[in-house]
Amino acid sequence: MDIAGSKGIFVGGASGMCRATATQFHAKGGQVAILDLEKSNGPAVAEELGGTFYPCNVMDFDGMVDVIGAAVADLGGLQFLVNTAGGGVAQRTVKKDGSRHSLDDFRRIIDLNLIASFNINGIAAEHMSKNEPNADGERGVMINTASIAAFEGQIGQVAYTAAKAGIAGMTLTMARDLGTLGIRCMTIAPSLFDTGLTAGIPDEGALQLTKDAAFPRRMGQPHEYATMAIAIFECAMMNGSTLRVDGGQRFAPR
Ligand SMILES: NC(=O)c1ccc[n+]([C@@H]2O[C@H](COP(=O)([O-])OP(=O)(O)OC[C@H]3O[C@@H](n4cnc5c(N)ncnc54)[C@H](O)[C@@H]3O)[C@@H](O)[C@H]2O)c1
Repeated sequence: MDIAGSKGIFVGGASGMCRATATQFHAKGGQVAILDLEKSNGPAVAEELGGTFYPCNVMDFDGMVDVIGAAVADLGGLQFLVNTAGGGVAQRTVKKDGSRHSLDDFRRIIDLNLIASFNINGIAAEHMSKNEPNADGERGVMINTASIAAFEGQIGQVAYTAAKAGIAGMTLTMARDLGTLGIRCMTIAPSLFDTGLTAGIPDEGALQLTKDAAFPRRMGQPHEYATMAIAIFECAMMNGSTLRVDGGQRFAPR
């Protein structure tokens, strides 16, 4: 799809990888709406990109219908949806004190990552389905964010792995569901990236966490996620897959 004149909603767009994607989309002539937590840097990012900020919490599943609806109405359509809102919890299946992983924590991480992504995708796709298709029959593109932990989660990541593997798992099926509508669905699975989420990791810790990469052995930069996301939007053959953006890294157990 052509970016110039297209409209995008960036959930988690106040920071990190989604902000970088909104920035590249804007630079190529796209119009952006930034959706993020109320306390985020969203208003400043939206202003910088000539867009509007919509405060939201992706865990408010019903509320997201109105927030996305308002953004689509203001944009005057929707061709691109990028979602990075998410996160994990560090807890073993049986903890060192002998007690079990909290079921509430497990559910919360599934809600935040998997259920929220599915919910946002459904709402966005409903709006995209009303677009006039382009010459190639395309109506829109959606990108979710997993993690390489979806495939080789480290000790203590069981809830996060389950949630991210769920996102990766639904990608092809959703692409098939939406194929007749001309809507593509992809997932990006990053390794360790230098974002707001990882800001607290010291340089030594980052070296340790990227030592298993083939090349480069460093944290990814937000613009490298963005470059992949933009390529997905522009290339009609990119559909139904989860792409690792990881310098050839495979996480060790710890
Ligand atoms: N940074 C990494 O190393 C890394 C690696 C693999 C996967 N990921 C995934 O990337 C995503 C995080 O993106 P990032 O690394 O650019 O981090 P980031 O913190 O820079 O950006 C994430 C944005 O999402 C927003 N957000 C968080 N919870 C939200 C909620 N409930 N509702 C609305 N907005 C919310 C935050 O306010 C923030 O602005 C997560 O899904 C994470 O699992 C990150």
